[in-house]
Amino acid sequence: MNKNHARMATVLMTLLVQTAATADMENGRALTERNCTSCHDDSMYMRDERRVTTMSALQNQVQRCEINLDLKWFEDDINDVTGYLNTQYYHFESPQ
Ligand code: HEC
Repeated sequence: MNKNHARMATVLMTLLVQTAATADMENGRALTERNCTSCHDDSMYMRDERRVTTMSALQNQVQRCEINLDLKWFEDDINDVTGYLNTQYYHFESPQ
């Protein structure tokens, strides 16, 4: 691999990673809008006394609501929605 090829590979990798991140957020947003607005709107995620205070608690709560609804999501979908809600509303820094 010469230098140009190496640079090209780096650019392609970066694009792939960015595309994956965007796609996940999109999936998370779409799933949330489609399935999660019948009982509570997004004010639930911003209420003063919100229950979720860590990333893993957020993941658990997403899963709990999802199981209640019998949506049968894949783990990736749970992760996408967790990531989406965190980016939009919760802003936890740690992946835990
Ligand atoms: C059947 C009604 C219902 C639907 C539909 C629903 N939820 Fe919930 N959700 C609740 C209730 C009720 C609570 C409050 C639980 C509590 O306060 O103990 C809640 C709370 C939450 C919270 C925690 C809010 C906080 O306090 O920080 C999150 C996150 C959440 N839901 C995510 C989701 C997601 C994601 C979906 C779609 C998969 C969803 N919910 C769909 C009923 C629902």
